[in-house]
Amino acid sequence: MVERIQQLRDEAEAAIAAAADDGSLEELRVRYLGRKAELTAVLRGIAELPPAERGPVGKAGNSARQGLEALIETRRQALRATELDDRLAADVIDVTLPGTPPVGVGHLHLLTRTRREIEDIFIGLGYRVLEGPEIEHDYYNFTALNHPPGHPARMLQDTFYVDPGTLPPESSVARRGAGAGDDPAGPAGNPPPAHYGPRDVLLRTHASPVQIRAMESAGPPIFIVVPGKVYRRDSDATHTPMFHQIEGLAVTEDVTLADLQGTLQEAAKAIFGEERETRLRPHYFPFTEPSVEVDVSCFQCHGTGSRDSGERCNLCKGVGWLEVLGAGMVDPNVFGFVRERGYDPELSQGFAFGMGIERIAMLKHGIPDLRIFFENDVRFLGQFS
Ligand code: PHE
Repeated sequence: MVERIQQLRDEAEAAIAAAADDGSLEELRVRYLGRKAELTAVLRGIAELPPAERGPVGKAGNSARQGLEALIETRRQALRATELDDRLAADVIDVTLPGTPPVGVGHLHLLTRTRREIEDIFIGLGYRVLEGPEIEHDYYNFTALNHPPGHPARMLQDTFYVDPGTLPPESSVARRGAGAGDDPAGPAGNPPPAHYGPRDVLLRTHASPVQIRAMESAGPPIFIVVPGKVYRRDSDATHTPMFHQIEGLAVTEDVTLADLQGTLQEAAKAIFGEERETRLRPHYFPFTEPSVEVDVSCFQCHGTGSRDSGERCNLCKGVGWLEVLGAGMVDPNVFGFVRERGYDPELSQGFAFGMGIERIAMLKHGIPDLRIFFENDVRFLGQFS
């Protein structure tokens, strides 16, 4: 019997030493020391043994029991300690490591950057930045810019018209029509309509209406640039229904076409590089006279029209010049609409220009398709951080 006890004890000791976790240790305790365990049965049956065996069996049994209990407890502590060590090792946080840099911090859209770049150039030349409404009255978009009603130039631009019934009452266009604006009589010589017709309210097709708004609110001299969204019913690789322009207006005594050219020359150099030249070509806009289109010498082929390889320059199509904007001297008829604010059509001198921000950015960065600006593809946008 004593031998059997020793056997059980050896077996249990080996099993306890091999136990890998709390759970298996508990199973072993039940198996070797629990109510139904063999050792427990032996100890319970001591009274029935022959008297000579009772002493040695009891001694061996109790010693085995206490030995195993102690061993299980020690093993349990040891297992818990390693478990804690493992956890601490796995969870280790090195507070001295630099933090993970946040991914995807944004940056300005290329068009915003280009707009600000252009604004900064003109701010440096003494211009103020001014904005105007995108929902505009026909009067500002066309009439006061010397497009008389029914004038064919109105057809040059594919205009989006706005249902006047959808306008919030506080919109500036609505105020103008209600005669509650700055000038209750309405713009000079053009009393506002009592109610809007279907062609009176539109999405501005250019930033030029702000020329009139600016001159209505302040007399000369005036030096402003006007960035903003404009809208035309047009959609292909070089036209989107919404795009951005920066308009410029300078009105002061004796300003001439030479000043316009000098100003645009400065801007072109700042945008496209110091060596750039500009040239003016005659053009037509209803609100400027004379009107010009302004070209900048091609910065890719340096105005030669061909690449170093001898191939035709793909940017300027071999012309050596890139068309960048429309401009001209403010037509006296335009001053006629703001005469009351101190712009005498006989005496006032001014120039105006308007450029497409997308066009400038496309030329500068070799972007082939205008639509990509508005697709929000980060693979495109991320190239201009
Ligand atoms: N508003 C004209 C356009 O959108 C550009 C322009 C502005 C031309 C100012 C002359 C003077 O095409």
